[in-house]
Amino acid sequence: MLKFMFAKTGRYTTFEVEHYQFRRILRSFLINFKYRGLLPTMLGTVAGATRKSKLPILQDYLFHRQSGLKDWLDIGGLIDQKDLDVPEENRGSGLRYEATSEYELRYVLESLKIPYPSYNFIDYGSGKGIAQAIAAEYPFNAVTGIEYSRKLHLIAERNIEEVKRRGKAVCRDVTSQCGDAMAHELPNMPHVIYLFNSFGADILKVVLDRITTDLAGIKQPIYLLYNNPMQQETVEEHGFFHLIAKPMGGKWRVYSS
Ligand SMILES: C[S@@+](CC[C@H](N)C(=O)[O-])C[C@H]1O[C@@H](n2cnc3c(N)ncnc32)[C@H](O)[C@@H]1O
Repeated sequence: MLKFMFAKTGRYTTFEVEHYQFRRILRSFLINFKYRGLLPTMLGTVAGATRKSKLPILQDYLFHRQSGLKDWLDIGGLIDQKDLDVPEENRGSGLRYEATSEYELRYVLESLKIPYPSYNFIDYGSGKGIAQAIAAEYPFNAVTGIEYSRKLHLIAERNIEEVKRRGKAVCRDVTSQCGDAMAHELPNMPHVIYLFNSFGADILKVVLDRITTDLAGIKQPIYLLYNNPMQQETVEEHGFFHLIAKPMGGKWRVYSS
């Protein structure tokens, strides 16, 4: 038990950055309680405790599966990059589709304490658009996602329409764009940049260079929220951002310019 509390491990070693799982579980518990309430949190605890037993029960309540959005948006699934409709020349080190954990993103976004209307939110490698759906609920100046699979981009567009139709979007300018993250130009204004393990170091370096050029001269801090930061060294060696927090036991890294 002591080892579990203090050792860094990855649940899925090839796909997940090493972090303090105990701290992450504890934080998940508190976040679930904050956003979902007591009963789903208790059910999630039972689900987690029985997960590896012979009789796993209530598995839909596992913390990372709980989402108020998944009931009415198409966001689920794990899709390997080889099964995505991506032009061969763009594949590079792009990674598989997997949706962000809704409450983790809400928690990290809210912990920034920024004047949202002065900021744009962008998700590089936005998949089916869950991060945009969540960010749309905050009064950002604009919320954008850039995704190179047309199939996923079209699903994101439908999801965004549904968020708007249900009157959930506080932000007035929410869009998904189909294209390569490396070619995406940012307007020169403060940004919260979101990255969920979308690609390898080669693409990330190009993206970081673009960010540095496009956002040059901005006085307010630019934030990078990096979920499952498999390429954290690339960000830290690049130098535009410095680390300010390691939420979820280090399964996220938050940087500021
Ligand atoms: C782990 S998923 C994250 C999806 C989404 N950000 C979310 O949080 O739910 C990574 C996504 O990045 C996309 N991707 C990978 N390389 C890309 C690139 N060079 N340009 C645009 N999208 C890319 C993949 O198609 C995939 O949908």
